[in-house]
Amino acid sequence: MENGVDGYPRGVTASNTVPLGLPALRSAPPADPSRPADPRLVDTFGRVATDLRISLTDRCNLRCTYCMPAEGLDWMPREEQLTDAELMRLITIAVRDLGIHELRFTGGEPLLRKGLEELIAASAALEPRPDISLTTNGIGLARRAESLAAAGVNRLNVSMDTLRPERFATITRRDRLSDVLDGLAAARAAGLNPVKINSVLLRGMNDDEAADMLAFAVEYGYELRFIEQMPLDAQHGWERSEMITAGEIMERLSARFTLTPDGEARGGAPAERYLVDGGPARVGVIASVTRPFCGACDRTRLTADGQVRSCLFARTETDLRALLRGGSTDAEIAETWRIAMWGKLAGHGIDDPGFLQPDRPMSAIGG
Ligand code: 5AD
Ligand code: SF4
Repeated sequence: MENGVDGYPRGVTASNTVPLGLPALRSAPPADPSRPADPRLVDTFGRVATDLRISLTDRCNLRCTYCMPAEGLDWMPREEQLTDAELMRLITIAVRDLGIHELRFTGGEPLLRKGLEELIAASAALEPRPDISLTTNGIGLARRAESLAAAGVNRLNVSMDTLRPERFATITRRDRLSDVLDGLAAARAAGLNPVKINSVLLRGMNDDEAADMLAFAVEYGYELRFIEQMPLDAQHGWERSEMITAGEIMERLSARFTLTPDGEARGGAPAERYLVDGGPARVGVIASVTRPFCGACDRTRLTADGQVRSCLFARTETDLRALLRGGSTDAEIAETWRIAMWGKLAGHGIDDPGFLQPDRPMSAIGG
């Protein structure tokens, strides 16, 4: 690829790198002559990103205490969000030119994005047809599960941290547990399989409910996964000592169930999976903090305003929206995305003394 006057390849300039965090860490990786001529999203550690996570909006109709403050956040202005056409252009480039074969739509809350079913249907029409999944908080899912399945969603994750309505209202600051339960049932009835439940345990709040949640999931045929709480809250209130570790989760579950590793290869999947009482039911534990899986990471992320992030915890972003709106070609956009991913760091570094939480919270990056 031809380089421009500043030494970056055409289309990659210091101005399309969004500054985040410390000035010293603010530059996008320049084109590296040692990068192989591989069309895929390879990085210097030999990983290949094939799973694209797309945040469709930073807005949400819940206010989970571990995610955002009660009053919500300053939402992204509409004009900064990618339009459906811009988004479909990027998804098409990812699937056609960059070897992406899995798409996961997230948020904020992706069901709040207008035209979601149309975006999914257009994604499902791409060749080769990507696997399509959705991570939702379940509010409004009861009415949409059928249309989402018909549009092409293959799998669904619903976030639910408790089975007790009053606790749900405390954790999410909204009294909507019954909507989530109805959403789960509708997803199963629409034939989505598996329906997974994502659960975050909070010390002194719902950490006594791990086994009850698993009993519920086994009874109704949902696959439960516990996620260690990560430092991604907008309030920057995360404390490692407060986090319920994967070890503690296993202890609480083992008090009621016999868990045996399911023996299947994990690949890039973050969950360690266990058979529950001999199976076939399974439970997953995602030990993002205590047993990081960065070495097998196969993800690339796109924010609702068109920034590529190589990691949830990345401190730099690469601005594809500027290229979309500045008349760049598909080939230029693809090459910029490749260069952004080539610079992916080895790991999230939560345990490093100099660890800095990313400026964007989880709700603006996508889970
Ligand atoms: N740590 C771990 N998981 C989180 N989620 C949101 N914030 C955090 C956090 N700080 C979960 C949500 C949802 C998924 C996208 O990530 O509960 O299930
Ligand atoms: Fe919304 Fe998810 Fe954040 Fe809860 S964790 S407030 S459901 S974005």
